[in-house]
Amino acid sequence: MPPVAAESHTGAPVLYPATVAPDQSCVSAEDAAVSVGDPVAVSGDESYAAVRRAVSGAATAAANRSWWDAEADDYYIEHGAFLGDAGFVWGPEGWTEEQLDLLAARPGQRLLEIGAGAAQCGRWLVDQRGVTVVSSDISAGMLRVGARISRARGIRLPLVQCDATALPFAEASFDTVFTSYGAVPFVADSGRLMREAARVLRPGGRFVFSTTHPIRWAFPDEPGPAGLTAALSYFDRTPYAETDAGGTLTYAEHHRTLGDRVREIVAAGLVLVDLVEPEWPDGNDQTWGGWSPLRGAHLPGTAIFVTRKPA
Ligand SMILES: C[S@@+](CC[C@H](N)C(=O)[O-])C[C@H]1O[C@@H](n2cnc3c(N)ncnc32)[C@H](O)[C@@H]1O
Repeated sequence: MPPVAAESHTGAPVLYPATVAPDQSCVSAEDAAVSVGDPVAVSGDESYAAVRRAVSGAATAAANRSWWDAEADDYYIEHGAFLGDAGFVWGPEGWTEEQLDLLAARPGQRLLEIGAGAAQCGRWLVDQRGVTVVSSDISAGMLRVGARISRARGIRLPLVQCDATALPFAEASFDTVFTSYGAVPFVADSGRLMREAARVLRPGGRFVFSTTHPIRWAFPDEPGPAGLTAALSYFDRTPYAETDAGGTLTYAEHHRTLGDRVREIVAAGLVLVDLVEPEWPDGNDQTWGGWSPLRGAHLPGTAIFVTRKPA
């Protein structure tokens, strides 16, 4: 991966180091096209197909990095107002860190955001909690949007490009590691991600992450009534994969059941403190992909895992 040109909050161009281990995500186009097993069609048209099929970790990282690079500006246009340039929302339900205080961040602490996207959460913490945050993401495109916002808002926030499964930080470097919907479902080996988060945490520190609630994998990703009938197996861990017309993987998400997640957390040496299932609040009328007020009234959409490294 070449160094990533971006802009600091002052507007001066800076270079972020290439921090992704070559064996993790710097893969050739041929590797990115690798698939294992028989694809099961979910939907498709002539230029794009969505299937459930096995995909490798390297192919997942390469595809998702490219996908988020390409989507970065459009994603900000579509969701930037909901997220807030310096806002911390835990998911489409709209619950904020201001309301939930799951990080329990206190002035002077050092925090690491993984899968930060444009780092809205990191910016909110710096602005509102008097902490130091490093925000990281695999996608240079998402970080570029983040650098642009930081500059416009005059908020200082270091950005690092790296894969959340290979963090370029020393052991016990941070009081808290967190992500709102970043990285966790976008990696093949989320157990490794948990171990990396645990490694860079100081004893007693927290790792808090939100992700799609696992039960959602049993339902079609539809915001309307069609999304209320379980049509798929909750227990089927086969990844969701999108491919282009040439069959190259362009996007992937990986499913874990609730039990899988708990086992990954425990295996990483972390303690599960809480599992928050935010309910859809009155007054949130927005639809975000398959998340909607209708589905929110019946099903959990988000799971927030609050974990702690033993002191
Ligand atoms: C839905 S966004 C979440 C970011 C932000 N909190 C938000 O709500 O917009 C998912 C982010 O995860 C990042 N991501 C995907 N795979 C990753 C990986 N292996 N390591 C680090 N970040 C990753 C993507 O680049 C993307 O910016």
